[in-house]
Amino acid sequence: MNYEYQKSPYRNLVVGVDTEVPILGGRSVPYVNFDNAATTPPFISVLSDINKFSPWYSSIHRGDGYKSQVSSNVYENSRKLVLDFVNADPNNDTVIYVKNTTEGINKLSFRLCNGEGKCVILSTDMEHHSNDLPWRGKYKVDYIKLDKYGGLSLEDLEQKLIHYNGLVKLVTVSGASNVTGFINPIHEVATLAHKYNSKLLVDGAQLAPHVPIDMKPVNSIEHIDYLVFSGHKMYAPFGVGVLIGPKDNFRYGEPDYKGGGTVDTVTHDYVYWSDPPEKEEAGTPNVMGVVALAAAIRTLKSLGMHNIDMYEKKLAQYATNRLMSIKDIELYGTNRSFRNRVGIVPFNIKKLHHNTVAKILSGEAGIGVRTGCFCAQPYVQKLLNITDEQVANYSQLPKDKRPGMIRLSFGLYNDTNEIDYLISALEYIVKDYKRLERKYAKP
Ligand code: ALA
Repeated sequence: MNYEYQKSPYRNLVVGVDTEVPILGGRSVPYVNFDNAATTPPFISVLSDINKFSPWYSSIHRGDGYKSQVSSNVYENSRKLVLDFVNADPNNDTVIYVKNTTEGINKLSFRLCNGEGKCVILSTDMEHHSNDLPWRGKYKVDYIKLDKYGGLSLEDLEQKLIHYNGLVKLVTVSGASNVTGFINPIHEVATLAHKYNSKLLVDGAQLAPHVPIDMKPVNSIEHIDYLVFSGHKMYAPFGVGVLIGPKDNFRYGEPDYKGGGTVDTVTHDYVYWSDPPEKEEAGTPNVMGVVALAAAIRTLKSLGMHNIDMYEKKLAQYATNRLMSIKDIELYGTNRSFRNRVGIVPFNIKKLHHNTVAKILSGEAGIGVRTGCFCAQPYVQKLLNITDEQVANYSQLPKDKRPGMIRLSFGLYNDTNEIDYLISALEYIVKDYKRLERKYAKP
C-alpha cells in the first residue's frame, strides 16, 4: 500500500470534512464525500470573506451611499480576478455573472446566429445535458463522435467542420468529462475550430476546480473564445457561475433576461441597452456569491492549480489501483491514464445495481457517491454499449433498474485514508452482496 499521499495537505482548508453522519444501526461516522463533481463543500476562506464583507453589503450600481460604493467596487473588481484566473484578455473579454454553468450556456445559446436558422452547433457525444439541450431547437446540433476509447475524436471534428462548410457557428466541448474525467485537448479543438472559421466554447465546470486553464491570447489560433464554470464546484457554493466571452458578442441585440440594471434609457417607445456585462445581468446581482467566488479563486491560486492537479491525479490513480484489486469490480475509462484525466473514477460492482451499492455505502459506511448517468445519458449509453432499442424501452423500467455507474469524484481535501476506508467497504459489500442486497431492497 502506498502511504505517500495519506493525508491531504489541503484538508484543513475545507468546511465539514469531519462531520459525522448516522449510519444504520445507530452509530455515527465521519462523512466521506466522494461526490465533488456534483458540488464541493466551501473553503473556510470563502465563509470568512463572506463574514468580513457582510457589514459592508449593500445595493450595487444603484446607490451612492458609502456601502454601495464599497459593494460595487468589490463586485466590479472581482471580474479582473476571474479573467486573470483563466488568462483571459481584459481588452477583449467580459465576465458575465450567472447562476451556474448551465445558466451560462443557456445565456450564450440566445446570443449566437441571430435566428438565421442555418447555423450549426457542434456539441459532442460526451457532454453533460447542459451542454447539449440548450442548443437544441435553436440551431442544427450535431455531435462529434467518440474514439474507440471513449474520448473525443478530433478526426470526426475536422470531418464535420469540413462537411458543414463554414456553417458551424460554435464548437462546444466539456473541458473534462463529469463521467470519466477525460480531459479534452481544448487547444487542439480550438485550432481546428478556428481553422474552419468557427469559435469554441469550453464547459469548464469540471476543469476550473482541478487544473490550470489558459484561454490564450485572442490572436492565438489556440484561443478559447468562450468559457463557463460554476462557483459551487470550486468551493464557493453561493449561487454564482461565470460566462466569459468577447464583449462585442454581447454588445448588440437584446439580452435573454430583461429588467432592472440592463438599460441605459427607456421610454414606452424604445430601449437603449447598457453595455455588457451589465446588460446581461438583469436584476440585483448576487454580490455575496461573487465575494465567495473571488475568495475561492484567491485560495486556489495561492495553492497553485498545478499542485492541486498533481495531488488529485495521484489520488485518483491510487483509488484506481486499489479498485482493480477487488474481484467483481468493473472500471471504466482505464485505457486513459490520469495524465489526461481529472480525479473521477467510474465503476460498477458486477452483481449489484449501482444504486443499491450507493445506498449500502451510505447506510453501512457513511460514504457519499453519485450513481446513474450523471446528466450525461448519451455518453453513459455509449460507454455501457446500451442500444437505442434498450433506451427506447426505458419508460417501462423503474429508475432503480436502469443501467448506470457509480462515480467517485475527488476534491483536494480527500485523501488515501478515505480511499482505504472505501475499499474496505467495497470488499465487505462484494463478500456479502446477497444479504446486503436484500437488506437494502425496497420494502
Ligand atoms: N454535473 C454534476 C454532476 O456531474 C451535477 O454530478
